[in-house]
Amino acid sequence: MKFFIDTANLDEIREAMDLGILDGVTTNPSLMAKEGIKGEENIRKHYTDICEIVDGDVSAEVIATDFEGIIREAEELAALHPQIVVKVPMIKDGVKAIKYLSSKGIKTNCTLVFSTGQAILAAKAGATYVSPFIGRLDDISTDGVELVAQIVDIYRYYDFDTQVLAASIRHTMHIPQCAEAGADVVTCPLKPIMGLLKHPLTDIGLEKFLADHGK
Ligand code: E4P
Repeated sequence: MKFFIDTANLDEIREAMDLGILDGVTTNPSLMAKEGIKGEENIRKHYTDICEIVDGDVSAEVIATDFEGIIREAEELAALHPQIVVKVPMIKDGVKAIKYLSSKGIKTNCTLVFSTGQAILAAKAGATYVSPFIGRLDDISTDGVELVAQIVDIYRYYDFDTQVLAASIRHTMHIPQCAEAGADVVTCPLKPIMGLLKHPLTDIGLEKFLADHGK
């Protein structure tokens, strides 16, 4: 399972890289705004900066919602750096654009996916990744991890190449749950990733080993 970090914060990306477990980055317009990155030129430079830190796929989201606009933006984003994956929303023109972009060899991440039906469309269109948003489903009392498991089953059954990228991860336990569900990738902020390190028995055990070594 690959680990992506879901942030536009360069320090957090560096910290996850430093841990040695990072396979890529996902961003979205809200995460860029959170870092105060505004204006086309600055946004594009920021994507390039991220690509230079991380050794793996970096999702950059289109703003256009019409077919021609999505294609134009996607081609510009993809030309920025070979690691760029164009994030396209699960809408009618988005599906058409994913089909077109995949035929041109441009990698895509179909975002804002909340159902198996949407995930089937993304795979049929040839998306490189599909992003079910598990936390936002949990927020409305629907089991987000269960959706990941269902999509994984369907993709395996039909041998789709699209990778299941579990997104909108809110806490540490979502990560092993998504792994158990067979997600190809999890993307989450740094905090849930660092939470995986923690176990009180590890701390107690280490303390005792160090104390015994000193005897
Ligand atoms: C993923 O690609 C999305 O950018 C992200 O995971 C959304 O997370 P949120 O629901 O916490 O905003």
